[in-house]
Amino acid sequence: MSATDTSGPDLRRAAAARALDLVKPGMRLGLGTGSTAASFVTLLGERVRAGLDVVGVPTSEATRVQAEREGIRLATLDEMPQLDLTIDGADEVDDALRLIKGGGAALLREKIVACASRRMVVIADAAKRVETLGAFPLPIEVNAFGLAATQLAIAAAIGKAGCTGGIRLRVGADGAPVVTDGGHRIVDAHLARIPDPEALPAALGAVPGVVEPGLFLGIASAAILAAARDGAAHVP
Ligand code: 5RP
Repeated sequence: MSATDTSGPDLRRAAAARALDLVKPGMRLGLGTGSTAASFVTLLGERVRAGLDVVGVPTSEATRVQAEREGIRLATLDEMPQLDLTIDGADEVDDALRLIKGGGAALLREKIVACASRRMVVIADAAKRVETLGAFPLPIEVNAFGLAATQLAIAAAIGKAGCTGGIRLRVGADGAPVVTDGGHRIVDAHLARIPDPEALPAALGAVPGVVEPGLFLGIASAAILAAARDGAAHVP
């Protein structure tokens, strides 16, 4: 890691380590998804095995499996519908703490868990910080029924919200459509820039097949964005 690095596993781990300072005994925690959130779960597991008592609600099956392996006590959101703090990664963060999430196809559960939490804190490396959202393709979780019609309607909705660009059904390495933990599909909108993020959820929400877009607006309360300078994590 050089002094000017803004991305990489060491930085993601640094952000995760800083987030661990926010965790207090007895807390009900939302556990995010992705490589940065996985670093947090690993560090949390070490604390739990050293005696910290917390309960976690995972945002994906992958996180549930990892957290169980780490020995973290888990509950479902139905068992524990109000949480103190969710720690999760993001694909993009702007200075108004607006996020693009869903690169790991977990956006629906991530949003439900984050919204059930008093605080959501984003952990990421500084390369995720952007002036304008949209360079990262916006993931949109959609129902599996009527995919072709839903994609046409999404393309029209995107235009109405003042964005341009193409959309693509996300496929895995095997060429088959990615299936989310909820049994849905992901459509990625390649928009380059989203000039008015607030206009998009309403436009996309009017499309019947759309389950949830990966725009998180007014949900995150802070972001820990690790940069190599000073070797420390910086909160904007
Ligand atoms: C999963 C997500 C992830 O938090 C996001 O993709 C960031 O992942 P990573 O920490 O691996 O860069 O939204 O749906």
